[in-house]
Amino acid sequence: MLSTGASGLFSEREEQCHQERRRRAKPLNDQEMHLQVISNCNSSIPVRIASSCGVVEADDPWWQVTIGLFPDNLSPCRGYKMERIPAMPRAAREMLIDRYCPEDLQAFVRTNRDDQDCLVRLYTGRRRLPSASQSRFQRFSLRNYPLHVDQMEELGLDTHAIARTLADALTHCYWIAGVDANDVEFVLAPQKTHSEHCENSPEVPRFRSDALGGEFVIWMLDYDCCREMSQDEAGVDQAVKAFYRNDPYYPRPYAHGHAEEDRSLWQTFRSRFLESSRHILKGRTALATILIEKIEEEGRRRCERGGLEGAD
Ligand SMILES: Nc1ncnc2c1ncn2[C@@H]1O[C@H](COP(=O)(O)OP(=O)(O)O)[C@@H](O)[C@H]1O
Ligand SMILES: [Mg+2]
Repeated sequence: MLSTGASGLFSEREEQCHQERRRRAKPLNDQEMHLQVISNCNSSIPVRIASSCGVVEADDPWWQVTIGLFPDNLSPCRGYKMERIPAMPRAAREMLIDRYCPEDLQAFVRTNRDDQDCLVRLYTGRRRLPSASQSRFQRFSLRNYPLHVDQMEELGLDTHAIARTLADALTHCYWIAGVDANDVEFVLAPQKTHSEHCENSPEVPRFRSDALGGEFVIWMLDYDCCREMSQDEAGVDQAVKAFYRNDPYYPRPYAHGHAEEDRSLWQTFRSRFLESSRHILKGRTALATILIEKIEEEGRRRCERGGLEGAD
């Protein structure tokens, strides 16, 4: 059994492979940035990162033994292999379907093979609008399920602890790895069960949700759009752009439909970002303050432009 991601292809084995077929998929950059983020992560990064298994060429014998595990239309190609992030377990998937899947789609989603590859995207920067549930054109997929901050609250997840973890992950990327985190993803998923794969991240915070049936960790993935970032104002501008270009994983200083709780979540993220930056940057913390103030400035600008545009 197997399934395809956007540029990612993965088998039911322990490895996941990204192919070069799509123009945007860049295995070498993906690998380089991934390794740059992983290096030194023992000390500071509070999220799990899949281990890198290297770039595989189209003529690599690996393909001969694994091609049968991928979709029929795939031929061997250059790709990037990595450890597979474990999918959310059945109990959690069932719960998401029961609570959030439109009724007429539930039977399909429950048995659809693709929906078993369930990773939950953590959108702490977006709250669902009340009208969202009434859309006539309903789509629902567990593949990359976007969990909005109001849903995290409903499920009993500690949104402030999540915000602190995201702040720590970003400071690691910016100040230790020197990478702008452009287009990276943060998903909630189980901690790997076999511990030999955990060497790059020994202890990471766990997030409990009784509604989801257990404890989970945050995984960070997808580095193929990351770029190196200099530790100066040009680098800060690059990071601010990447912050807003990304899906709304991080809390935002202003947004359409913001509740008082969102402002408080932003304050939690902000102060943890500065505290964690102080730890890493020692005497050069001015850069972190400039960065966070530029994020706030851009947020205000977007909000003033108004309406939905101000949302993200
Ligand atoms: N290591 C992994 N383990 C499990 N699923 C993965 C892994 N890497 C990516 N995916 C899944 O495949 C999708 C596409 O991979 P991604 O790295 O995001 O490529 P793209 O460049 O197309 O966005 C992701 O959104 C995620 O659902
Ligand atoms: Mg992606």
